[in-house]
Amino acid sequence: MTDAFTLWSLFKDSTTLQAVLGSLIGFLVMHLFQQRRTAVPNMPMDERLMPGYRGGLSAATMPSDLPFSMGSKSQKTKNSKQPEKQKQKTEMLKRATDFANLLSRRRSCRQFSERPVDPEVVRLLVTAAGSSPSGAHTEPWTYVCVTNELMKRRIREIVEEEEEINYARRMSAEWKADLAKLRTSWEKPYLTEAPVIVVLMRQRSGGEAQHYYSEISVSISAGLFLAAVQNVGLCTLTSTPMNAGPALRRLLGRPPNEKVHLLLPLGYAAHNAQVPNLTRKPVEKIMVNI
Ligand SMILES: Cc1cc2nc3c(=O)[nH]c(=O)nc-3n(C[C@H](O)[C@H](O)[C@H](O)COP(=O)(O)O)c2cc1C
Ligand SMILES: *[C@@H]1O[C@H](CO)[C@@H](O)[C@H](O)[C@H]1NC(C)=O
Repeated sequence: MTDAFTLWSLFKDSTTLQAVLGSLIGFLVMHLFQQRRTAVPNMPMDERLMPGYRGGLSAATMPSDLPFSMGSKSQKTKNSKQPEKQKQKTEMLKRATDFANLLSRRRSCRQFSERPVDPEVVRLLVTAAGSSPSGAHTEPWTYVCVTNELMKRRIREIVEEEEEINYARRMSAEWKADLAKLRTSWEKPYLTEAPVIVVLMRQRSGGEAQHYYSEISVSISAGLFLAAVQNVGLCTLTSTPMNAGPALRRLLGRPPNEKVHLLLPLGYAAHNAQVPNLTRKPVEKIMVNI
C-alpha cells in the first residue's frame, strides 16, 4: 500500500515519467491500429493466384499437372507412393531440361521484323513480368509499351543523340573494346524497326510511396519478362540507354519518381537477323556446391 502510494507520488511529480508512460500507451495504441490496418490474412499456398491476375487469368488456367505436389493430395495411398514419386522426378527433370533449353536459345536481338505483335500477347508478357517478387511487395515497376510510330521515332532520336556522345566521349577505351565483338554503335535502327518498344520504368521512393531494393526488384521482373518473351518465340534486347533516361521519361509523360530502367524493343527477329557468336560459361563454372 505504501509502495503503491510512493510510486504514485513519484509519478505525479515527475513529468518525465508521465511523458514516458504517455508515449508508451500512444505507441501501443498506434501499433495495434496499424496492425489491424495493414495485416494481410494468410491463405493456403495452393491458392497462389493474386487478385491482380483475375483480369486475364483465372484459377481454372492453373496448371493441374505440376510435377510436384503442393500438398498431400497427389500421394493418395502408401502403396502408390514410390511409383508416383518416380514419375514426378522424371517429369521434373524433363521440365527442367526443357526450360533450360528454351532459355539457352534466348539471344539479344538487334534486328527486328516490322511484323506487328498481338497487343494481347504483350499484355500477357507484362502480366507475367508483374508476377515478380518485390521488396515488401511494393511492385516498383511500370511497363510503358510504345507502338506509336511517331513516339518510337522520337525515342530513337533521343537515344541516338546521347549514344553518339557516349561512343565519342563518355565510354572508356576498355568498354569499347569489350563491346567490339557485339558490333554495336550509336545507331539504333531497331528502335524504329521493332513494332513495340517497352520502356521499363523503376519507381523510386518519394511522395507517399516507399520502395525497398527497387533496383533488384525491377531487374528480377525484367528477367521474368525476358523469359516470357522467349517462351512465345519473340525477341527483345536488354538495353540501357546511357544519359537518355530523363528525356525519355519526359517524352513518355511519366512522373518524376520514375526512372528509365531498361529499354526493351520487342518483336519478331528479322529473317536475316545476326547475333555475335558468343559462348556461355558452362554450369560447372557458375555453380558451386557446398
Ligand atoms: C544490364 C544490361 C545492359 C545492356 N545494355 C545493352 C545496350 O545498351 N545495348 C546493347 O546493344 N546491348 C545491351 N545489353 C545486351 C548484352 O550485350 C547481351 O546481353 C550480351 O552480349 C549477351 O548476349 P545475349 O543476350 O544474346 O546472350 C545489355 C545487357 C544487360 C544485361
Ligand atoms: C562459334 O564459335 C565456336 C567457337 O567458339 C565455333 O566452334 C562455332 O563453329 C562458331 N559458330 C559459328 C556459326 O560460327
